Amino acid sequence: MIPAGPPPPGTRTPFLLFVAGHPVAHSLSPAMHNGVIDRLGLPLYYIPVDIPPGRFGAYLRVVRSANFLGGNVTVPFKEEAARLSDTRSEAVSVCGAANTLVARHGKLHAENTDGDGFLDALEGCGWGRRHRNVVLLGAGGAARGIAFALGRAGTRRIVLLNRHARRAEEVARILSPRFPSLSFATGNLRQGTLREAFRGADLIVQCTSLGLQGEWKNFPLKDVEKSSRFADIVYRAGGTPLVRRLRARGVPAVDGLPMLAHQAARSFALWTGEKIPGEVFLAFARKALKP
Ligand SMILES: NC(=O)c1ccc[n+]([C@@H]2O[C@H](COP(=O)([O-])OP(=O)(O)OC[C@H]3O[C@@H](n4cnc5c(N)ncnc54)[C@H](OP(=O)(O)O)[C@@H]3O)[C@@H](O)[C@H]2O)c1
Repeated sequence: MIPAGPPPPGTRTPFLLFVAGHPVAHSLSPAMHNGVIDRLGLPLYYIPVDIPPGRFGAYLRVVRSANFLGGNVTVPFKEEAARLSDTRSEAVSVCGAANTLVARHGKLHAENTDGDGFLDALEGCGWGRRHRNVVLLGAGGAARGIAFALGRAGTRRIVLLNRHARRAEEVARILSPRFPSLSFATGNLRQGTLREAFRGADLIVQCTSLGLQGEWKNFPLKDVEKSSRFADIVYRAGGTPLVRRLRARGVPAVDGLPMLAHQAARSFALWTGEKIPGEVFLAFARKALKP
């Protein structure tokens, strides 16, 4: 792996960090990272970069040759970032998606901080990192990273449900050999399937991009048991509609803002060697999140 950590001592040239995606204008990452950079007085600046589809490889050539310490990658480039890097962490190799790149000496190392950032966020809510029986809604890059982290944390059973059930089956097939004592079940997002999966679940995680654009209609709210915990990895000012409605029914529920902050804290530590608590990033994210 390419060594992470601060820029070489005595370096006076400012270094750049980035979030690359399409679109990226909505991203809270520049506000969080630049807030922390200013507070620490580091010679760094974090920029958003909107990359047209098909141009991500060309952008990485610039990152390799210019003054970058690394950056974040978001939709739709996480898979490409994993593929085009020189080295990758186990989470990236298994899940095939990277949200963090570390640049050193013209080479790129790919990491995925989404899964562990998610568990840090649960720990921050007082929910702990170990959850025996988990329902994951979605099978995209974020769901894969979270499933990997849950497997590593000792989860015993994951029910993976996705609009296209075949994609959920594929994720289970990829992760099963890595976690022999973790059992997987898969299915679609129809009401009956959800209802059955929710029975006895310790934790339900909403990892689809539904809720980003609008509300998840026909979600069987009544079938979420009060003894379950619900985490939506999508965030909105004041909480996503699902989180608000579940809380009103007495179900403990959290949205994706704490996860965003904790994955950022982990990325920042990889680039700079500075271990800043996720709560510091969370305070900057809350300040920047507009209603
Ligand atoms: N809080 C955080 O830190 C954080 C971190 C990462 C991601 N996220 C958010 O999590 C969401 C997923 O991210 P990702 O990287 O996993 O994206 P992705 O790889 O593009 O996956 C998208 C997922 O959403 C599902 N989906 C999309 N439209 C749908 C619809 N109309 N009905 C049902 N399912 C639908 C897809 O199902 P199919 O496979 O059937 O298409 C897939 O499971 C995004 O909203 C992203 O912003 C938040």
